[in-house]
Amino acid sequence: MELESIRKIYKNYSSVYDFLFKGFFHPRQKLAISGLDIGPGDKVLDVGVGTGLALPLYPRHCSVTGIDISSHMLDQARKKVSKMRLSHVNLLEMDACSLGFEENTFDFVVATHIISVVPDPYKVIQEMRRVAKPDGKIVIVNHFVSPNPIIAKMENLCDPFFRKLGWRMDMTLAELVATTNLHICETKKLAKLDLWQVVHANNNKCGHRADN
Ligand SMILES: C[S@@+](CC[C@H](N)C(=O)[O-])C[C@H]1O[C@@H](n2cnc3c(N)ncnc32)[C@H](O)[C@@H]1O
Repeated sequence: MELESIRKIYKNYSSVYDFLFKGFFHPRQKLAISGLDIGPGDKVLDVGVGTGLALPLYPRHCSVTGIDISSHMLDQARKKVSKMRLSHVNLLEMDACSLGFEENTFDFVVATHIISVVPDPYKVIQEMRRVAKPDGKIVIVNHFVSPNPIIAKMENLCDPFFRKLGWRMDMTLAELVATTNLHICETKKLAKLDLWQVVHANNNKCGHRADN
C-alpha cells in the first residue's frame, strides 16, 4: 500500500482510534513494554507511535522519540503528551522505511501493530536495527500467521479483506526472522490462542547469537 493511502486511512481512524482499538491493543503494549529494563537516560524509539497509546508506559527517566507517517495520528499523540505532561517524549513525522537518525542511536526500538501495515516490513526492521545500538533491544508486537493449519487457512482467506482496511495477515514470524536476521530472545502472548505476539530481540550487530 502506498504511503498516501496509509496517511488517508489513518486520517480517518485518528479521532476514533483509541475508542475502537485501545481495549484490544493496549494490553499487548503493556506486555511488551512494562517488562523492559529501561534505564535512566536510555533512548527509546517508538516506530509508528500512532495516537501514543504506549507513551505512558515508558518510564519518565528515559527519553522517548515517537515517529509516525500520519500527522493526524501524531496530533492525537501530542494531545496525550500535553495532557499527561510527558516532557521526556518527542514526536516527529517520519517514514519508518527511511528513519532520519544516525545509526547506533537508540537503546530500545519498539514497533507495536505497525509491521503488517507498512509497504515493506523488512525494510522497516532493517531500519530499526540500523538505528538501534549494537547491543540494543528490538521489540515488536504484531500479528503472525498461526502455526495451527486451520486457523492459518482462515487467516489466509481473511487477508484480502484486511488488506482493504490497511493491514496484511500473511506474515509469519519465521519468515520475518529469516529475512531480517533478528535474534529472538523471547516471544510472549496474552493468551495461548492469541494471534498477536510480543517479540523481544537483541540487535546483535556484532554477530553474537542471543540466548534463545
Ligand atoms: C495500527 S497503528 C499502530 C499505532 C500504535 N503503534 C499502536 O500500537 O496503537 C499503525 C500506525 O503505523 C503508522 N504507519 C504506517 N505506515 C508507516 C510508515 N511507513 N512510517 C511511519 N508510520 C507508519 C500509521 O500512521 C499508524 O499510526
